[in-house]
This record gives sequence, C-alpha cells and structure tokens, in this order.
Amino acid sequence: MSIVVTGATGHLGRLVVEELLSRGVPAEEVVAGGRRVEALTGLAGRGVRVARLDYDDPATLDAALGAGDRLLLVSGSDPEARVEQHRAVLAAAARAGVALVAYTSILRADESPLALAATHRQTEADLRACGLPAVLLRNGWYTENYAQALQEAAATGAVTASAGDGRVASATRADYAAAAAAVLAGEGHEGAVYELSGDTAWSFDEFAAAAAEVLGRDVSHRRLSTDEHVASLTGVGLDEPTARFVAGMDTAIAQGALDSTTGDLSRLAGRPSTPLTDALRGLL
Ligand SMILES: NC(=O)c1ccc[n+]([C@@H]2O[C@H](COP(=O)([O-])OP(=O)(O)OC[C@H]3O[C@@H](n4cnc5c(N)ncnc54)[C@H](OP(=O)(O)O)[C@@H]3O)[C@@H](O)[C@H]2O)c1
Repeated sequence: MSIVVTGATGHLGRLVVEELLSRGVPAEEVVAGGRRVEALTGLAGRGVRVARLDYDDPATLDAALGAGDRLLLVSGSDPEARVEQHRAVLAAAARAGVALVAYTSILRADESPLALAATHRQTEADLRACGLPAVLLRNGWYTENYAQALQEAAATGAVTASAGDGRVASATRADYAAAAAAVLAGEGHEGAVYELSGDTAWSFDEFAAAAAEVLGRDVSHRRLSTDEHVASLTGVGLDEPTARFVAGMDTAIAQGALDSTTGDLSRLAGRPSTPLTDALRGLL
C-alpha cells in the first residue's frame, strides 16, 4: 500500500508529503506526484518515491497508481479544465483499484454560493458515481490568500474588501495539510465529509486589526460596494471578468460562504488551527 499525493510540486501537496513523513509514514510508502518531477528531487533524496503524474496524460496516472493505494487528489489549478482532469484521475484510480480517494473540495460545496464551488460539486458527484471508497476534504480559504492584502495594508494602511461584515474561517495551508495527512495515514475515514476551516472566523475589521498588530501601524478596513471593488480592480489592470470573479468571492463571503467553524480541521490535525496574527506574521 502506498499513499499517492498529487500536486506534490505545489504548495499544499508538498506540505501533505512533509506531514506524512513527520507523522512517521515510511518515505518509501509515499509517492509524490507532479508534472514537474524536477521539483521533487529533494523529496526523492529523502527516500520518497516520485512519479510524473499529469491529469491530462492517463498513462502517467496508470503508472503512478496501484491496487490498495490511498490517493490524495489535490484539485487542479485550472477551474476550466479540472472537472475533466479529475475524471481522468478517478478513472485511473478505478482501473488500479485504489483503496481510498481523498479529494480537496471546497467548504460546504453542496450549498456554497462561490462560483468556484460548481466544479467541486461536479467532482464530488463524479466521485460518488465511480463507487470508490472516498473521503471529502472540503477546504475553506487559505490564510495565505491574503498575503497581498497584508502587503496592501503595509503600503497604504488600508485593507479593501467588499465582504461587509462577512467572516472567513481561514487556516494555513499547513493546517489543511495536517488534516489531510491525518486522514491519509489514519483509519475509518471512508465516506466521511470533513468541513475543514480555521477554529475562528474573522471579519475584515478584525483582519485589519490583526494586520495592524503584525505590521505595527494603523490599518483600517475600507468597505467597498461590489461595483466599487470591481472598479478598483480594473483600475489596477485586471480585466473586467476577472475583477467580477474576484469581487464575487467577497460577495459570497458576505453571504456566509466561508464562515463555518466546525472544528473538523483541528480535530483531525490534533492541534488548534494557526491563529490569524501568527499566520500573518509568517507571511511577512
Ligand atoms: N482553499 C483555498 O484557499 C485555495 C486557494 C487556491 C487554490 N486552491 C485549490 O487548491 C489546490 C492546491 O492549492 P496549492 O496552493 O497547492 O496550489 P498550487 O501551489 O498552485 O499547486 C497546484 C498543484 O496542482 C498541480 N496541477 C495542476 N494541474 C495539473 C495537471 N494537469 N496535472 C497534474 N498536476 C497538476 C500543479 O502541478 P505543477 O506544479 O506541475 O503545475 C501543482 O502541484 C489548487 O490547485 C486549487 O485547486 C485552494
């Protein structure tokens, strides 16, 4: 039995591999999969098995997966392409006879107003349809998504958002990776749906206060309407559809899309999620 991690060349997958090793999973039982295998040589040097694994190349999927493996399918980074890419991975997993598929979905995927949730809902449905034993890791927002907001706060003393009093229960990628590794290395998770998020949901007023504490300067929360947000984003060079997509995330946050604090993440990780101020300090 191997634990195969896709997207191991990326931020989250890499952290999951590190977590598996630090939890005592033998390196030779871990397969770090990615397109750019040259980015995985450091892991290979530590005994981790490395596989070229491209969602668009079924032969690489068949070569990487074996009967009885546990697979972490890290959602692809191209929302336009990923439903078909995930289908290709699930088809290969079924051919191989993997024992468990864990999929990184999105928080409250079944009801989320986030535009991004549609592709995750489809992959969740495909996962149910393929009949493989599965576990859903429905990830909320990474705190790292706000690195640019922190830079903006440092430069201008303001954080701009159009999320009103909406709250975000963010956690760091390392927190999500700890929860994923616990599932992959543990027992009894088949069929589970985990709503993974930070222990505390913060508002943008609270984000501004945390940024002020970390930066040692005054930071205010500049509340924008959706149209003002779109205009400010197009003003710094974003095309209109991208600006609407980004502002739409804040609209969804205002509707409560990312405020769930179920405690699933900290229970799985065996520790509290990283507090916002600590995470922001880490981003500096
Ligand atoms: N919850 C959140 O806040 C949040 C934020 C952003 C993204 N996400 C989602 O979470 C995923 C993981 O996040 P991350 O921070 O680790 O993203 P990341 O650093 O961009 O990593 C994405 C990984 O997906 C791999 N990948 C993309 N297309 C692939 C393909 N066709 N075949 C094989 N591998 C492919 C990439 O491989 P290469 O290195 O070879 O390109 C990379 O390893 C993202 O892909 C996205 O779906 C979540």
